[in-house]
Order: sequence, then structure tokens, then C-alpha cells
Amino acid sequence: MRIKYTISLVFFVPLVIIVMENNIISRMSDKLALKQTPQTPLQPRGLSHILQKHNASFTRLSKTNSAFSLIKRRLENYSQHKEVVTRGSKHILLLATTRTGSSFVGEFFNQQGDNMFFLFEPLWHVEKMLTLETGGTNSTASAKAYRDVLQQLFLCDFSLLESFIEPLPVNHITTGLFRRESSNSLCQESVCSPVIKGVFERYRCRTRRCGPLNLTMASESCLQKEHRAIKSVKVRQLENLRPLAEDPRLDVKFIQLVRDPRAVLASRMVAFAAKYKNWKQLAIDGEVPIDDDEVRNLKGNCDNIRLSAEIGLRQPAWLRRRYMLLRYEDIARFPMRKATEMYRFAGIPFTPQVKSWILKNTQASKETSGVYSTQKNSSEQVEKWRFSLPFKIAQVVQKVCGPTLKLFGYKFVSSEEMLTDKSISLIEDKVFNFV
Ligand SMILES: *[C@@H]1O[C@H](CO)[C@@H](O)[C@H](O)[C@H]1NC(C)=O
Ligand SMILES: *[C@@H]1O[C@H](CO)[C@@H](O)[C@H](O)[C@H]1NC(C)=O
Ligand SMILES: *[C@@H]1O[C@H](CO)[C@@H](O)[C@H](O)[C@H]1NC(C)=O
Ligand SMILES: *[C@@H]1O[C@H](CO)[C@@H](O)[C@H](O)[C@H]1NC(C)=O
Ligand SMILES: *[C@@H]1O[C@H](CO)[C@@H](O)[C@H](O)[C@H]1NC(C)=O
Repeated sequence: MRIKYTISLVFFVPLVIIVMENNIISRMSDKLALKQTPQTPLQPRGLSHILQKHNASFTRLSKTNSAFSLIKRRLENYSQHKEVVTRGSKHILLLATTRTGSSFVGEFFNQQGDNMFFLFEPLWHVEKMLTLETGGTNSTASAKAYRDVLQQLFLCDFSLLESFIEPLPVNHITTGLFRRESSNSLCQESVCSPVIKGVFERYRCRTRRCGPLNLTMASESCLQKEHRAIKSVKVRQLENLRPLAEDPRLDVKFIQLVRDPRAVLASRMVAFAAKYKNWKQLAIDGEVPIDDDEVRNLKGNCDNIRLSAEIGLRQPAWLRRRYMLLRYEDIARFPMRKATEMYRFAGIPFTPQVKSWILKNTQASKETSGVYSTQKNSSEQVEKWRFSLPFKIAQVVQKVCGPTLKLFGYKFVSSEEMLTDKSISLIEDKVFNFV
């Protein structure tokens, strides 16, 4: 009862605010009619039998397609005025997959200070809306959507992203931007509108109390900042982002963050224990099935990561000076050194704020030599997974992700003893970039 009441408030208060704006109200009711979400109490009765799930996703996709052609036309118009360009602005895209420490590395940019506009996983909304009833996405359609949304966001334009936010922002105001509080830029004074009593904010700023996010204000603030950075774990193929690298209005720097797939799996097995129950049992009793869905996913992920890195490391003309590969293990062991390298690569100043954040949040310390080192037992932290991942499962990963392990310099283990032998590091020294 109470939940229902709160949800209604969330819907109604913005509606009351903009009661004069008829077109927006009709946009909103379109949206409500299109979607058949069980938690939407305003769903008109009698529509549900028409809105079969399959058809609902079809409508969503075609809606996205029309959004694409609109933005394409707008971009064509923009390109004619491309002398408006960058003035030394950099656009950093931190690309990763889940459980690779990307939130931590994202902070390196989030903490940069007043010259940086940072967004934390804006593509969450895009993926969510494009998720089909089968649970997956049409990878062609989502790749296109990710690319276009990123391109716009780097230009401080939130309009395409808005069309993916649910409920649809009214008058560019939203209470539900994913992980708003993880972007310092979205919780600054200039982007903090007054709190509205009774309106529930899903992702609340930690530094101050703010009302619903006004995306027009966010966009204005973004335009004031010299540099922009976005962190995402959604992009599958670097190659899909080529138009961003070639956009004359942008100066994009791609940073791909990778991690030992065995460690990623070990981390997933802790985080999603139920999902891997069978595996664990099998690892004790017998063999892990190689044709299992999870193994297929694992292989797919490894292949995507490797293909992206191979393109990046090959440095085709469109990626020249635009690609950097980083291993999570190196960042965890040498955070200050790696952060400095990232900033040098990106071509933006490494500020005292970043430095002090890193000092506070890692055990990095300055040695008398002036060289940054890290906490003494850090390699233990980084290689902790070796004591939780059953050897049989490590073997499965090595089998399906072999070329990926090789490319990034992760040593194979040939026995249980080797897996748990602390004196053998599984991280080979490897230099990937010339920055
Ligand atoms: C889906 O929509 C089409 C028209 O777009 C309609 O012909 C069809 O009957 C619908 N299917 C279901 C299951 O509702
Ligand atoms: C592109 O520019 C033309 C003329 O400058 C304008 O008429 C048109 O509406 C613009 N198209 C879009 C999609 O903004
Ligand atoms: C995926 O989307 C694209 C365009 O968005 C479409 O052409 C293609 O048929 C779709 N594929 C599947 C399997 O639905
Ligand atoms: C959102 O911000 C813009 C720009 O500051 C302002 O013009 C607009 O009135 C704000 N919207 C609301 C509903 O406060
Ligand atoms: C690793 O470092 C932490 C804190 O720096 C310390 O508490 C812990 O005992 C160390 N572990 C080993 C095995 O040295």
C-alpha cells in the first residue's frame, strides 16, 4: 500500500510541476502505454493482453531506431559547424568488464577536480531498455545505441540517453539516473536542485542533499568543464566505437582495463554464489561441463576482450595515440605509477586531488628514492583468488580463454600445487603501451 503510494507520488509530483506542458504529459502517457511493467501502477487497464512482451520489445526497438535516425540527422547538422571543436578538451572512455576493478579506476578520473565531467555507467539505462524478453540483447542494436549515446554524452548532450531512462524524464528532470552519486559532477552545487518533499530519489548524492536531477543543468555543467570521462562495462567491441575516434569534435582516449579471467570468475563465484553452485559441486565431484552456458559466456567475454585489445595494440590509424591497455593487477600493485601513466596518456593534468585520493584509498607510499611503490603484500591481495578457485575450474578457464591469458601475460597453472604456490607469480611483466 505504502509502496504504491510512494510510486504514485514519484509520478505525480513532476506531472503537477509541468501541468501546463501538454505534449510532455502525452509523451509520458505514451511511455506508460508502451511499457508493460508490473510495477507501474498507472498502467491503463485492459491494455495488458495487447501488449504481449514480445511486441513491447519490438516497439522499444523501433522507437530506438527512430531516435537513431533523428540523432543522425542532428549530427550531420553539427558536422557542418565543426569548427566549434575542442580547445584541448579530452574525452576519456574507460572500457572494462564487470569485476575488473573499473569502479576503482573510474575514481581516478572522478576525483580529478573541477575540470572534469565524469559519468559512471550511463549505458546501464540503454542496456536495460534494450534487454529482450529472452534476457539477452540484440548486440547489433545495442552496440549502435551505446555508440550514439556515448558520442552525445561526450558532447554534453543528454537527449538520447534521456529516451532510455525509465520512467522517462519529464521536462528533463529525473529521479532515477543510475548511480548518480558515483559522479561527483552530478552532485555539485551547480547541478543540485532543491529537494522536493515526498519525492523519492533512487540514487542519492552523498555529499549534499539534492532534489531530482535536472539534466539541462547537468548538460550546462558538462559544457563548462574542460575534460569529460565516462566509465562503462557495457561495450563489447572497441571497433564499434570507431566513429567516436573519427569525430572531429572529439579527442577520444580509450583506456581498456583487463584482469585475469580466472580472477574475474573467482570473484563472480563469490558474488553470484547460487549461480555457480553446480560448478563448485562438480569441481569437487568430477568434471565441469565445457558446453555449459556459463562457459559459453566466459568464452564470449574473453574473446571480445581479446579482440578489442588486439585491435588496440595493432594501432590502426584511427586508434593511433588513442588506445591504452591496462591490467588491473598492475594498477592494484602500482596505483600511483599507473594513474600517472593514464593521465599522461590522456593528456590532462594529474591533480593533487587525484594524488591524495589514491594515497588515501590505496596503501601507495612514496619511497625515499622518489619512486612510487605500493603496499608490501599487495601481490597477495591481487592473487588471493588463487586460494578460492578450484584447480579444475582454473583449468576450464585456461582452456576457453587461453589466447586471452597469453595476450595479457597471465601464466597458466599446470597443477593444484602451482596454483596455490605463493612463490610463483602468475603475472608476467609486460609492457603494452608506448606512452
Ligand atoms: C504483435 O504486433 C503485431 C502488429 O505489430 C500484431 O499483428 C500481432 O498480433 C502482435 N502479437 C501479439 C502476440 O500480440
Ligand atoms: C538541420 O539544419 C537545417 C537548416 O539549418 C534545419 O532546417 C533542420 O531542422 C536541422 N535538422 C535537425 C535534425 O536538427
Ligand atoms: C538486431 O537489430 C538489427 C537492427 O537494429 C536488425 O536489423 C536485426 O534483424 C536484429 N537481429 C535480430 C536477431 O533480431
Ligand atoms: C532545469 O534547469 C534549467 C537550466 O538551469 C532551467 O532553465 C529549468 O527551469 C530547470 N527546470 C526545472 C523544472 O527546474
Ligand atoms: C598485509 O597487509 C595488511 C595491512 O597492510 C596486514 O594487516 C596483513 O597482516 C598483511 N598480510 C601479510 C600476510 O603480511
